[in-house]
Amino acid sequence: MPFETALTKALDLRVPVLAAPLGRGTNAEFLATMANSGSFGFTALMHMPEATVSDELAEINRVAKGRFGANLSLVVDQRKRLAAALEAGVRVFSLWQGDLEPYVRLIKDAGGLVFWTVGSPEDAARAKDIGVDFLVSQGREAGGHFVGSAPTMALLPSIVDAARGVPVVAAGGIADGRGLLAAMALGACGVWMGTRFVASRESASHRGYKERIVAARATDLVETELFDPVGQECPHWVIRNSTVSRWEDAGRPASGQRPGEGEAISRYPNGKPVYRYDVAAAWDSMEGDWEASPLYAGATVQLVHEVKPVAEIIGEIEATAQAALDQIAALRTGRQALSQ
Ligand SMILES: Cc1cc2nc3c(=O)[nH]c(=O)nc-3n(C[C@H](O)[C@H](O)[C@H](O)COP(=O)(O)O)c2cc1C
Repeated sequence: MPFETALTKALDLRVPVLAAPLGRGTNAEFLATMANSGSFGFTALMHMPEATVSDELAEINRVAKGRFGANLSLVVDQRKRLAAALEAGVRVFSLWQGDLEPYVRLIKDAGGLVFWTVGSPEDAARAKDIGVDFLVSQGREAGGHFVGSAPTMALLPSIVDAARGVPVVAAGGIADGRGLLAAMALGACGVWMGTRFVASRESASHRGYKERIVAARATDLVETELFDPVGQECPHWVIRNSTVSRWEDAGRPASGQRPGEGEAISRYPNGKPVYRYDVAAAWDSMEGDWEASPLYAGATVQLVHEVKPVAEIIGEIEATAQAALDQIAALRTGRQALSQ
């Protein structure tokens, strides 16, 4: 099904679907597959040590042939990572949390494109003056950390209304073409999906984590601030795991008194320990108790029934969007009973 929106034009896409940055999950192979499937994905620079950002981006650039974006969480100073990314030739950026204006200026001066993830119409109203190119409306049912003040169905149109013409991409609660079409009906120019792509064959998320997403239902999700450093707390949705259960059983103590705090639960490929309550999601290359790391996921666990290749997920989005469009057309012409 062909789409032409502000998003497809800006990034030369066949399908207006973006893969959210997913910690270490959106690696070079994943991003290249997204690009080859007519869509586009983001890498999360926050999860790359400053010392290795340049080398890691060079590798992604080589594999994905430059067709990917970079995400910066502005809870910490990101000027070094931004400089390294601009130096590496990255020109599509996604920003969220923190003071974005100085970063937008640097990106625009380099001829780049800026996506800004927001959760309120008040922020959306500021985007045009700041020079943001696309807003990402993140509903509060989104997997992982969220800034949304309301679920997508109510938040998205309020952000579209407030955006003063800045195009809006919908994030949170979308996993197929029906969600894409619904988001477009609410004024979005495309969608930004996280949980669905964690459970893709190519994502570098741990295979056990992918299976947990497939097995989970919305009742398995927990809203918490457990996996953030003190002072940087932001609510996030995770699938209940052993770390969450242990903390709940201990009476939900404050940071500093949580069970197993400071305990190394696994190791990164470079040998560095992963500690209980660390922010990093379970990654395939972690060795040890991956299940104790945060299993970020949102309400779309209801819709994800299988780990699938990215190309298949994109194909299904196109097919289900077409089917939803046909269904609406049939309802409009009265060929189908309204009760169906
Ligand atoms: C494993 C995981 C990691 C995420 N990491 C980031 C991140 O580093 N930066 C960011 O802007 N959003 C991050 N998000 C949130 C996504 O950008 C997105 O808003 C969310 O996944 C959309 O909702 P959905 O999961 O219902 O598709 C993450 C989400 C998940 C599931």
